[in-house]
Amino acid sequence: CGIVGYTGKDRCVDVLLDGLRHLEYRGYDSAGLALQTPRGIETIKEAGQLSRLVAVVGSHNGRYDEAVSGIGHTRWATHGRPNQVNAHPHTGYGGRVAVVHNGIIENFAELREELERRGRRFVSETDTEVIAHLVEERLEAGDKLREAVAAAMRCLEGAFAIAVISSEEPGTIVAARKQSPLVVGLGENENYVASAIPALLGRTRRFLVVENGELVTITADSVELTSLGGERIEREVLEVDWDAEAVELGGYEDYMLKEIHEQPAAVQRTLAGRLDAGGGIDLSESGVDLAGIQRIAVVACGTAYHAGLLGKYAIERLARLPVEVWVASEYRYAHPIGDDRTLAVAISQSGETTDTLAAVETARGFGAKVLAITNTQGSLITRESDGILLTAAGPEIAVASTKAFLTQVAVMYLLALELARVRGTLPEEELLALGRELRRIPERIQETLDLVQGRMGEAAGLYEDARSSLFLGRGVSYPVALEGALKLKEVSYIPCEGYPAGEMKHGPIALVDERCPVVAVMGRGVLREKTLSNVEETAARGARVISVAARDDADAARLSEVLLPVPELPELLGPLVASVPLQLLAYRVARDRGLDVDKPRNLAKSVTVE
Ligand code: G6P
Repeated sequence: CGIVGYTGKDRCVDVLLDGLRHLEYRGYDSAGLALQTPRGIETIKEAGQLSRLVAVVGSHNGRYDEAVSGIGHTRWATHGRPNQVNAHPHTGYGGRVAVVHNGIIENFAELREELERRGRRFVSETDTEVIAHLVEERLEAGDKLREAVAAAMRCLEGAFAIAVISSEEPGTIVAARKQSPLVVGLGENENYVASAIPALLGRTRRFLVVENGELVTITADSVELTSLGGERIEREVLEVDWDAEAVELGGYEDYMLKEIHEQPAAVQRTLAGRLDAGGGIDLSESGVDLAGIQRIAVVACGTAYHAGLLGKYAIERLARLPVEVWVASEYRYAHPIGDDRTLAVAISQSGETTDTLAAVETARGFGAKVLAITNTQGSLITRESDGILLTAAGPEIAVASTKAFLTQVAVMYLLALELARVRGTLPEEELLALGRELRRIPERIQETLDLVQGRMGEAAGLYEDARSSLFLGRGVSYPVALEGALKLKEVSYIPCEGYPAGEMKHGPIALVDERCPVVAVMGRGVLREKTLSNVEETAARGARVISVAARDDADAARLSEVLLPVPELPELLGPLVASVPLQLLAYRVARDRGLDVDKPRNLAKSVTVE
């Protein structure tokens, strides 16, 4: 979920709706606002995407123009169906407070029972409503809003960020954090709170990161950060270098397409300063001593997990260090093996995925060093780690990750090169040559975009009446296949499987028919030939084949209905270009089906629940 709050002289409704527009990637099951108007707190909420709320607000002809402050919410449902009643903000029975909340209150059932026993009446099925009642009780007992929120915080278990307003203190917003992210945006005679920086980029670049267990009280001209006990806390201002255009469409029809096309620049920024013209590498910024490391455990979710798999191939091959890659939600409960010579590498675009954070905590538990690879400065994961390597993708808005993925892969390759250097596992010349190739990757990605552009219509055409799809690859092309399948299923809802091409005959080949397009990522070297014969086996059974292969790969061309050409690169680096046509394929198939590619159903971009 995403939360936002504003207090100041501008039109509060517009500021909040604009903030929510930039937070919709965090969930879009319902949306709502609570506004401090001269008539008291007024709430407006709607099921469905934000556009519905915008329409309703618009139909009220300026009714909310005099609001002096307010809070807003865009929801990814956890407790209670995504209908209007369960939409945030939630108000207490007396209507004196309104609350927006991101996260889960784990003990809400007990709290609700107690509150009901004390005569409070509930209207929704959400866990959030208990917060409104708890705060309201304290206000009735004479507390100021800040004390009331602090008292409520003490009762709540779970991970959450909340923002609260009260009719008794117009112009004041109190927000608090336990785990789920929360930032304060600083303005001139106006201030903000939000779940994430992109919500406010059009308004300010100066932020305070609220940390766990802290409260912040904002008015138009003051910001007070305090502990639960009320002691004041000083915090350095974070100046971000992301610009406002980065969160606008800039002429593209959707963010996913824009972000796919931003990849050459995103990877270039990510490599800058880390690889010199001769291919020499410098990762000393990571802050982790890599010399004594004996094993690596990569933990990540979704797309970031696939970046981790590619990192495994690169690190094991170049640096001869064993790497395990774990889906973060599994790691925690797997009794993982490790010690203080283990390096846990946590990959997370948002830096706030709860499953990934929990895996980091597990690794810390046995003394591992933690290196975070994240796209978000100041995110929770950066504070839970010994070292940080930032990806410089810029804000990624589309729910399906593209540019963040390629920058994560680029950083994993840098890490592999650095480990190889530190461990002396590769002749210097070989290391530098790979470094130089990596430096040229941004151009290669651009070349790929130009090469495949004209072929996507034809490739997507094979999905017109597809029932399912298989993505096959071997070696480093296998994670590419996994990511290609994930991308297509996320945005088109076609059941897709990514599989090692050689394993396909042991099961998934049963799926193959003319309505199950097969996408083959050919790769290079000996595995290319192996992949070819595996794909041949599907073609023999009527599969329609799309291949990602070198432009002049005659064997691939003969086998496939459509060949998506990619530049030739050293085998290991191939995924950095081979992933690109698969992103475009997913995009095009979803668009052809008339789907909302930026906001696929049921998903959210950052998942701050376990
Ligand atoms: C969610 C998103 C995925 C993303 C995953 C991990 O499930 O829908 O696109 O890959 O979280 O996100 P992170 O921010 O940790 O990289």
